[in-house]
Amino acid sequence: MSKVLVLPGDGIGKEIVAQALKVIERLNTDFNLSMELVHGLVGGSAYDETGSPLPQETLDAAHQCDSILLGAVGGYEWESLDRDLRPEKGLLGLRAEMDLFSNLRPAILYPQLASASTLKEEVVSGLDLMIVRELVGGIYFGQPRGIIEKDGQMYGFNTATYYQSEIERIGHSAFQIAQKRDKRVCSVDKANVLEIGEFWRGVMEGVAKDYPDVELTHMYADNAAMQLVRAPKQFDVMVTSNLFGDILSDCAAMLTGSIGMLPSASLNKNNYGMYEPIHGSAPDIAGQDLANPLATILSVSMMLRYSFNQLGIAEKIDAAVNKVLDQGYRTKDIASKGDKVVGTSEMGDLVVGALQ
Ligand code: IPM
Ligand code: MG
Repeated sequence: MSKVLVLPGDGIGKEIVAQALKVIERLNTDFNLSMELVHGLVGGSAYDETGSPLPQETLDAAHQCDSILLGAVGGYEWESLDRDLRPEKGLLGLRAEMDLFSNLRPAILYPQLASASTLKEEVVSGLDLMIVRELVGGIYFGQPRGIIEKDGQMYGFNTATYYQSEIERIGHSAFQIAQKRDKRVCSVDKANVLEIGEFWRGVMEGVAKDYPDVELTHMYADNAAMQLVRAPKQFDVMVTSNLFGDILSDCAAMLTGSIGMLPSASLNKNNYGMYEPIHGSAPDIAGQDLANPLATILSVSMMLRYSFNQLGIAEKIDAAVNKVLDQGYRTKDIASKGDKVVGTSEMGDLVVGALQ
């Protein structure tokens, strides 16, 4: 029996996670999945109830469970709080606490949705790339950091840092994933300007020696952003630092036409994972039955694959999502002319109904 901590979070988080739970319940009753669910608070809603975006109770539950399913965090009402009390701190704190260093962000174009992309169909059709983002180091966590007074004016600073071991472990993640795909890793840095980039590049070269079957190339981050939009199909696996990965993964997600379709995994060395949709909490459409629950439902599939080794059931979820898309059902964000537009809850029911 696997135990999963469910953290809906804020905004559309509650609605979309509710749909994923419907799917899990059906899999539990009819397909021998034995997943026990534990419920907790994170983000702004946790702050409202407990005064902290990451209550101790949530941290304890995270340690007692085998993985986490998260909706999304953030919203306008919490934006002016102290940095340590903001919803994002809940997310960053969980990543750090559970040492979820390896963030997998696939960008896959569903053939049914090729016309939803803002790019030409021939540029994106068949797109299947994986961004492997380092998630618990780099400039996001580096010290010193702050906003202080200096030389008679205000001064802001952050520090980008990586130990060799931190680069090595994310490198190994990327190469091992590439071995199961097209065996190509593109490492993204800014070695032409930053020492940390030069260092990153050298460490990746070292890791590559363990994987003679995988091709390693390097690209500067600015060029990588350009290439993602120009010819995204040239990439198989991209590996990069926390900050570049944040930016490039949003770019990659958009190539597919809907960020509402893409799940993600954040793993530690024991394959404990936090699974969440790539998109945010979308407070502007929260509570209106408009959000696309498919990324969250597909996050459950990713969890079954990467943390629980239940490939068969994961494939059932993927097949059910494909079937619903084939039947022409779409939430508003992915709808084109002639589609059957449905709400969040109905989309959840359709996926449950398509499981077989
Ligand atoms: C992401 C998000 C987070 C990040 C925010 C919400 C802290 O943008 O997961 O990509 O910057 O990592
Ligand atoms: Mg981001």
